[in-house]
Amino acid sequence: MKDLAPKPEELEPIETASVDEIRALQLERLRWSLRHAYENVPLYRQRFDSRGVHPDDLKQLSDLSLFPFTTKADLRDSYPFGMFAVPRERILRLHASSGTTGKPTVVGYTRKDLDTWADLMARSLRASGTRPGDVVHVAYGYGLFTGGLGAHYGAERLGCTVVPVSGGMTPRQVTLIEDFRPSTIMVTPSYMLNILEEYQKQGLDPRESPLRVGIFGAEPWTNAMRAEVEQAFDMHAVDIYGLSEIMGPGVANECIETKDGLHVWEDHFFPEIIDPETGETLPDGELGELVFTTLTKEGLPMIRYRTRDLTRLLPGTARPMRRMEKITGRSDDMIILRGVNVFPTQIEELLLATPGLAPHFQIELHKRGRMDAMCVMVEAVPARAEESAREAARRTLAKKVKDTVGVSVEVIVGVPGSVPRSQGKAVRVIDNRNRG
Ligand code: DLL
Repeated sequence: MKDLAPKPEELEPIETASVDEIRALQLERLRWSLRHAYENVPLYRQRFDSRGVHPDDLKQLSDLSLFPFTTKADLRDSYPFGMFAVPRERILRLHASSGTTGKPTVVGYTRKDLDTWADLMARSLRASGTRPGDVVHVAYGYGLFTGGLGAHYGAERLGCTVVPVSGGMTPRQVTLIEDFRPSTIMVTPSYMLNILEEYQKQGLDPRESPLRVGIFGAEPWTNAMRAEVEQAFDMHAVDIYGLSEIMGPGVANECIETKDGLHVWEDHFFPEIIDPETGETLPDGELGELVFTTLTKEGLPMIRYRTRDLTRLLPGTARPMRRMEKITGRSDDMIILRGVNVFPTQIEELLLATPGLAPHFQIELHKRGRMDAMCVMVEAVPARAEESAREAARRTLAKKVKDTVGVSVEVIVGVPGSVPRSQGKAVRVIDNRNRG
């Protein structure tokens, strides 16, 4: 694979600043953000007051732990615009994320917020190995989801030629990649697997594709999946993280030269890790729930927003800003099976290490008697689709899960194509435990 690491002179000054400089900037910006939230959003004022804290109480960064958390429920309760900190007329764009139940959560951006977002996405693209003048194929969904438009404006800001394909119509994705010759594709990792399959279906060699960089996010994926996609396409696979409530994609991004976790763009977001049970702040290096405070956002400042994503914070490497480890999963997605915690990412890792299996999977939960039971549904690769090969793969995977995760699960190895494909975020867990 080609060395696509940006040269030091291509970086923004803050990307090569010292940790002290970054902390000083964060403190100044955090003071502004707390005041902005307190003065303009009734919910924050009321929460701070009832806790007896005031923005002036923040003397150092660690004082942030005095302030209350914000959750998705707060946004939902203030539906649609109740947490905006500026008059609605100053909001130039809305996005929303569809919850599994009820009303979506709505987020809004001022002109300055949109500008910051485009800048940070441009920075993320550059960190991933994309350069001005490259063609960028955007297959994240366009619309209320932040993926498509977030990627789009970032690629334009960097000076790239953007192909706004959005998700779906997989045969056409392949045609456009082959004809427009993008160096970069931005898409969920699970949908990238569908594109890979389509290459194979059309008898094209994916390693001969023009793609050099894939910027994958919006759902958890493992280093095993990285290896799989990098090998299949002869391209770099880089992780991008974000969430609508904090901005959208581009809150954190891996650097192509190290691929060792995602650098949080700390000049705009302050990350913390907390114990999800007690809410206590944990030191860097410990696994817990990721919490973000926005430092510059005007439209929708977020103070100590609980993401539900589980990870740990690590020191900077390719950049001075701290890294977050690849997300293990969402606390909502953690399956507790007979007392053992299981994450879909663990299953992904094991299945990719099992010969004869394709990288598509779903987990189904049900009751067997009074006990919870888990069924892992996977499928064979076309070359290993006969009954005996599938049976062998089934046994291998079931044993691996038993040995490494520590629980017995049922494994079904279907024929190629039997696991439903996603066009955006993959649905990994189907919970039938409360049915019937
Ligand atoms: O998924 C924003 C995004 C778009 C990120 C495109 C990256 C690329 P939401 O729809 O609000 O926003 O969902 C946010 O998705 O809290 C995580 O649980 C999950 N997520 C996002 N990126 C990653 C990632 C977008 N790289 C939620 N790894 C977050 C694991 C991710 N999970």
